[in-house]
Amino acid sequence: MLPSRLVSAALLLAGSALGNGLNAPSEEVINRDVHVFKITTEMDSPHQVVNEAVNSTANGQCPGYSLHSLSQNKNGLTAKLNLAGPACNVFGTDVANLTIQVTYETETRLHVNIFDTANSQFTVPESVFARPKASGSTNAKNSDLVFNYDANPFAFWITRRSAPHSTPLFDTRISSLPPTPIAPVIPSDNSTALDGFPLIFENQYLQLASALPLGANIYGLGEVVASSGIRRDIGTDGGVGTIQNDWARDIADPVNENIYGVHPIYMEHRFNSTTSTSQSHGVFLLNPAGADIMLLTPPGSNVSLIEYRLIGGTLDFYFLAGPTPQSVIEQYSAIVGTPTWQPYWGFGFHLCRWGYPNLATVKDVVARMRAADIPLETMWNDIDLYHAFRDFTADPVSFAPDEMREWIWITRSLLAVVASLNKILCFPKKEISKYEGAASPQSHPRQSRSRDAHPPTIYLFGALPQREYFYLLFTY
Ligand SMILES: *[C@@H]1O[C@H](CO)[C@@H](O)[C@H](O)[C@H]1NC(C)=O
Ligand SMILES: *[C@@H]1O[C@H](CO)[C@@H](O)[C@H](O)[C@H]1NC(C)=O
Ligand SMILES: *[C@@H]1O[C@H](CO)[C@@H](O)[C@H](O)[C@H]1NC(C)=O
Ligand SMILES: *[C@@H]1O[C@H](CO)[C@@H](O)[C@H](O)[C@H]1NC(C)=O
Ligand SMILES: *[C@@H]1O[C@H](CO)[C@@H](O)[C@H](O)[C@H]1NC(C)=O
Repeated sequence: MLPSRLVSAALLLAGSALGNGLNAPSEEVINRDVHVFKITTEMDSPHQVVNEAVNSTANGQCPGYSLHSLSQNKNGLTAKLNLAGPACNVFGTDVANLTIQVTYETETRLHVNIFDTANSQFTVPESVFARPKASGSTNAKNSDLVFNYDANPFAFWITRRSAPHSTPLFDTRISSLPPTPIAPVIPSDNSTALDGFPLIFENQYLQLASALPLGANIYGLGEVVASSGIRRDIGTDGGVGTIQNDWARDIADPVNENIYGVHPIYMEHRFNSTTSTSQSHGVFLLNPAGADIMLLTPPGSNVSLIEYRLIGGTLDFYFLAGPTPQSVIEQYSAIVGTPTWQPYWGFGFHLCRWGYPNLATVKDVVARMRAADIPLETMWNDIDLYHAFRDFTADPVSFAPDEMREWIWITRSLLAVVASLNKILCFPKKEISKYEGAASPQSHPRQSRSRDAHPPTIYLFGALPQREYFYLLFTY
């Protein structure tokens, strides 16, 4: 569920490998940058894991926190949050003593980190995910975003400096959320009952809710094929709401369930009818634990809401000021890193499936694509290319290395002759990462780049998820 630097792996095998044969590539690795952070599970229905944590009756009775010992510093503040009453221990043990650190990191990035003072909850190690540097010169007076809080019960809300009286971008105050108790908002799922919105921070269960404008335009919380399209279903306009389960489980493309990776960031695009202007902002939660993120609108409510339910970690939020969709993504990239540089051909037409039985079939498919005059820049083979699915081996029978190599050379020489036609390359796809979404055909912009004189090369390729996210946001 982490950004690309964490969850993705990229391994490039350069053209010189070609002469050495397909099954001796390890000498040829020129660039290895592998950071895999993956949660695996045997569970069929990951939603259950969070669902089981939720006893909404008990949740409604949790005491929340009160803020003490606030100290301002140059770029923000820190304070202690103490449990404000008897522990509810709904799923694990309430953490009595929390610390909140608010840092105005840049003019457009506000970091709100709520963690257990003892530091025993899991957080992503700095060595795996280097936190972005703060500018050092940003403070509460020149930041685009403003952190506001109530001390008891502790709640916070984020506003824009330019519009202090507008509806907050994020607002955890009970008084801003709909009155509880609320019967299951999605009637078929009892975990969508909302019996209260206290801040809960336990070793195995964390919960935080924010009010959103009624029918808010929420994008993101990937990786998912959402039945609502790019805009997430928040329970208005005929929708039922969303339970976005964050649990990287390597499932191909179920609708409305998490797929390969997890991206706990959303962008909200908000229209103000008084000023007739719209602005975007982003909210990123840096937490790798399994989670449900709910987008709901209780019946009759005049607000919608987002509720985070996590089974571990801390509440480490980054608020991004935008104000355009593109600047939100730029600000997000400043935190998680930019995507791996994509080869030009990567933007072209790809053809891929898992299950070509042999090279003859692949050749035939390529030939028929040409005969039908269908553009094709990249031909993929999945792991059926490998001997018994072992990495770095070629199947000696179905994809005999010599025959494979010869076909690639022939394809290349043909291309030299018909330079104005589409280039065809062969890319044995390597299952380095479960996060290949960005490299699979369905997620690529359908642009032909056939005039690119790219040298024929074999790539083993595990692409990054983040570019896909970028793509999702900007191609609707
Ligand atoms: C949920 O919590 C309430 C209040 O603490 C308790 O009475 C009830 O038995 C719990 N229900 C389950 C299913 O654990
Ligand atoms: C931790 O929280 C408890 C419960 O609110 C409080 O009584 C105690 O003083 C806190 N400890 C510290 C060190 O703040
Ligand atoms: C729209 O913008 C105006 C001017 O900044 C502000 O007063 C108003 O509260 C905003 N409306 C909402 C719904 O936020
Ligand atoms: C929801 O809870 C009610 C009341 O406890 C119960 O009767 C019903 O079977 C539950 N429904 C589901 C789908 O679990
Ligand atoms: C929603 O209704 C409540 C109760 O009437 C009111 O206090 C609140 O201001 C309303 N919120 C919005 C965003 O309209």
